[in-house]
This record gives sequence, structure tokens and C-alpha cells, in this order.
Amino acid sequence: MRTYLVTGGAGFIGSNYIHYMFRKYDNEIRIINVDKLTYAGNLENLKDVENRDNYTFVRADICDKDAIEKIFAENDIDRVVHFAAESHVDRSIKNPEVFVQTNVLGTAVMLNAAKAAWENADGTFKEGKKFLHVSTDEVYGSLPDDGESYFYETTPYSPHSPYSASKASSDMLVKAYMDTYHFPANITNCSNNYGPFQFPEKLIPLMINNALSGKDLPVYGEGKNIRDWLYVDDHAKGIDMVQEKGKLFETYNIGGHNEKRNIEIVNIIIETLLEILPDDDPRKKNVSKDLIKHVEDRKGHDLRYAIAPDKIREEIGWEPETMFAEGIKKTIKWYLENEEWMKNVTSGAYEKYYESMYSGR
Ligand code: NAD
Ligand code: TYD
Repeated sequence: MRTYLVTGGAGFIGSNYIHYMFRKYDNEIRIINVDKLTYAGNLENLKDVENRDNYTFVRADICDKDAIEKIFAENDIDRVVHFAAESHVDRSIKNPEVFVQTNVLGTAVMLNAAKAAWENADGTFKEGKKFLHVSTDEVYGSLPDDGESYFYETTPYSPHSPYSASKASSDMLVKAYMDTYHFPANITNCSNNYGPFQFPEKLIPLMINNALSGKDLPVYGEGKNIRDWLYVDDHAKGIDMVQEKGKLFETYNIGGHNEKRNIEIVNIIIETLLEILPDDDPRKKNVSKDLIKHVEDRKGHDLRYAIAPDKIREEIGWEPETMFAEGIKKTIKWYLENEEWMKNVTSGAYEKYYESMYSGR
């Protein structure tokens, strides 16, 4: 039975990945989820799996060398899937240090611990061990709005935000381990994800939540910036396929050619809410395009991200399964049916953060 060490499994993509893996492999695998439970980590995301015999949660900081080494010492880990990170660009602009701490130093701790556990006396690595570092397309910088240039695996890194700079640094560390030690790893660089369990500081859940409660919909600048949106299950499937079918030491870009301007996304959310909310739902009267408010632009706002997924499609056979029209409906329905989840994550600390982020805008 393969044993997975998943970092950041209580966050948005990590929890969807854990659900995906248990749906796919059921009792054929074991998962140990290590998460610090920052504001973005929520064990409620994993209620469905917490009683499984083949699932264990360990609360630890990936920067805590002793805690991470202990997990490797007590378990024969076959796969590491490394999601844990500070992940929000706006927060990185306000407070970059914690991004360097978790994303760079934390990744170094993970790499060192895996290397120490997996290395043979002659410097080779035990058969079948693999580390997958989950990264972002934001490391490549920003594309012009020409609809024809894309991020390839060969595109030079050019990060702009403290978030993307910290992710680029962590990618470089993984590359250095592969080049120096022949450490068995892969890197995936994925485009923007959407789906259930996403913390409502990110564009899509923030707009859904605000629209339902009749709050302003803060669109940065003119709303013309472009992101390439991928349904989170397709990302989870891509990660698993890269780890099982990809060539070791390679980078794979994951994205589904689904570019949309931010303002288009906000309009689609409002239209979909109005379409699917029943007339007697009290939240429906709050939803209106009049809530859209253009606010001060993000500092250093990248104009366009767009992935060319040719390599992962040709070498591995991965393709996205969920088209945006279907995925966004599924996502909105999930948030409508999980009001309690949203209430829990938006109470307390997050409310304070929201005030500090948007009060001046
Ligand atoms: P998230 O913010 O929802 O979750 C991050 C998780 O990591 C949380 O559970 C948090 O508690 C945990 N964590 C943070 N610091 C930690 C630490 N020091 N030790 C242990 N756990 C810690 O993030 P997400 O959106 O799920 O992103 C997951 C990964 O995927 C990140 O590495 C991110 O860079 C990458 N990624 C995200 C997207 C996206 O659109 N969200 C796209 C491409 C890549
Ligand atoms: P976000 O979800 O933060 O992801 P990222 O910055 O990693 O791409 O933002 C997606 C896009 O939406 C980005 O161009 C910034 C924009 N945006 C807004 O216009 N308003 C908002 O309140 C937020 C959170 C984002």
C-alpha cells in the first residue's frame, strides 16, 4: 500500500485532492495530511474522510524540522505531495515575510527531510519514492493581452508579486535538488483553480459570498485582467497523473485554455445566481449587477495568465474534464448549499482581514 504525505491538505486544493484520491484509490492508499491550520486551513473540509483508517491528520508547521523528520521516521513515505503554502497575492503584498518563511524555508525543510529519509548510503534514492511540488503559473510573470502568447514549461521565470517570487524560489530549490542530488521529484505549475472549499478571499468565492449578502463586489481596476480558470478536480487528477505517469525530474504545466477577464467572471456569477436561486430564497433579492464596484487596482497587477498544456496532454494524456459553464454552476451550487461552511470561515479573524483589505478601497 502506497503511503502519501500531503502537506497543506486542509486548504482548498489539498482537501479536494485528498477527496479525489480516496474516490480513486479508496483503501489502496494511505494518506497522512500535515497542516499547520493557518486561517486558510479548515478541517471541516475533510469531515468526510476523517474517520477512515487509512487517513491521518498531523497538525504541524512545515518549517518545523523536527516535526517533519518525525513523520518520515515513523512512516515509510512513498509519495510527498507538497501543497502547503501561503497562497494569496494580496496578503503577500501586505505581509511578504510569512510567504518567504512558509513557501521557501518550509519547502527546504520538506526537501531535506524527504532526501534524508529516502537516500541510500551511496547517494542513490530508494526505489519508487517521489516528491511532487505543487506550484503556480504566476512564476512565469505576466503575458500581453494578445490572445496568442502562452506560458510553456520553457518560459523563463519572471515573478512579480511577493507570492509568485516565493513560489518561484521554492521551484528553484526543487530544481536544485533534482540537479544536484538526482532527487526524485516533479514540479507542476497550474493556472487559477476554482471549486468547493476555496477560501472567500479569492475572486470567485468572494464574489459569490458578497453577492448573496448584498455587499459590494470589489473589481480591481477595470476588471480587464485575464486568468485561466481550471476546475479543482481536474488539477487533482493532473497531479496524480504526473506523479504516476510523468517523467521524473520534469515540470508540467496544468491548465485548460479557459481564459476569462475578471469582469466576465463577476457577471457570470451574478447571472448564474439569478438563474439558479429560487424566487422564494431571501438571498435572491440581494443579487444584482449594481453591486459591482471598481476599486483601486492591485499593486503590480499581472495582466494575463494563460497556460499551454501541450506537454501534459501529449506525454501523459491529461485533459480537463469539467468545462467552465458546468464547473461554475457546480461551484455556485456548492456554496449555496454550504452556507454554514461559509459562515464559519468568514467569522472572526477573516472579518477583520476583510476590513483592513477593503476599507480604503
Ligand atoms: P490554501 O491557502 O487554500 O491552503 C494552504 C494550506 O496550507 C492551508 O491548509 C494552510 O493551513 C496550510 N499551510 C500554510 N502554511 C503552512 C505551514 N507553514 N505549515 C503547514 N501548513 C501550512 O491554498 P490553495 O489554494 O489550496 O493552494 C495550494 C497550493 O497550490 C499552494 O502551494 C499554491 O501555491 C498552489 N496553487 C494554487 C492555485 C490556486 O488557484 N489556488 C493555483 C496553482 C497553484
Ligand atoms: P485571486 O483570486 O486573488 O487570484 P490570483 O491573484 O492568484 O490570480 O484574483 C484573481 C483575479 O481577480 C486577479 O486578477 C485579481 C482579481 N480580484 C478582484 O478584482 N477583486 C477581488 O476582490 C479579488 C480577491 C481579486
